[in-house]
Amino acid sequence: MSAKIIKGIEVAALVREELKIRVQKLKEKGITPGLGVVLVGEDPASVSYVTAKAKGSAEIGIFEQTINFPADTPEEEVLKAVDRLNKDPKFNGFLVQLPLPKHISTDKIINFISPEKDADGFHPVNVGKLLRGEPCPLPCTPYGVLQLLVRSGYSPEGKHVVVCGRSNIVGKPLAALLIQKKKGANATVTVCHTGTKDLPYFTKQADILVAAMGVPKAITADMIREGCVVIDVGVNRVPDPTATKGFRLVGDCDFEAMKEKAEAITPVPGGVGPMTVTMLLMNTVESAERTAGLLK
Ligand code: GUN
Repeated sequence: MSAKIIKGIEVAALVREELKIRVQKLKEKGITPGLGVVLVGEDPASVSYVTAKAKGSAEIGIFEQTINFPADTPEEEVLKAVDRLNKDPKFNGFLVQLPLPKHISTDKIINFISPEKDADGFHPVNVGKLLRGEPCPLPCTPYGVLQLLVRSGYSPEGKHVVVCGRSNIVGKPLAALLIQKKKGANATVTVCHTGTKDLPYFTKQADILVAAMGVPKAITADMIREGCVVIDVGVNRVPDPTATKGFRLVGDCDFEAMKEKAEAITPVPGGVGPMTVTMLLMNTVESAERTAGLLK
């Protein structure tokens, strides 16, 4: 039996239609939500993510401004830009695209973002709120994974979710989201990582498997059980001389083999990626709604 392909592009398009209506309502009150994006350097993957964020903003009708800095910009200049964005009421939320050049401290920059304007939900205050189950901007990729599961009919409630990867951007916040005592969460979660001794022992127990390791084909078909739902967060560039750009994107899972065994699986590209950008837009709209007194 061939798995259902969970098309992130389609789910993201649906969420964006809902966001357009919310933006329209804000505009009727004279409010245009604003998103700021800071990009330091020209890392090709970062440039493509930032372009997608600008396009998504235009699509739903929110104001977006990308501030570009050369790769050798001193840390002090980037901190000044963060300070300006913290203070500028045009921006309901903003983010600094990661990774940053080595001479800039990621922690210092993130800690300097005002928690109320933290569109990524990366500030330690928001990370703490997430763990405690308090309202806060939710990290976009984990939020997108949850929305993708629920909206595709695979709610994680009561399921055993095995998360492979423990990054601050995906693995850790996703585990925190999944264990919340809330509708659409309430899962039993196992987090596997590079220190896990017998990875297949755990992955074979998953009702839902999330691969966020950043390694092509790290998860193979023999590592999952029949009927597992697979969410592939990996975005890896592998050389491909037949492709116009000289590379193609692959996830962390052996998609072709796994689609014969899984109940459902996300493709790469076109799975989690479009959801990540969409949840960033959702966070920005939500922040504007909160400022306008439309939310608690
Ligand atoms: N780089 C890769 N993913 C992300 C993300 O979600 N936010 C930011 N700021 N940088 C990233």
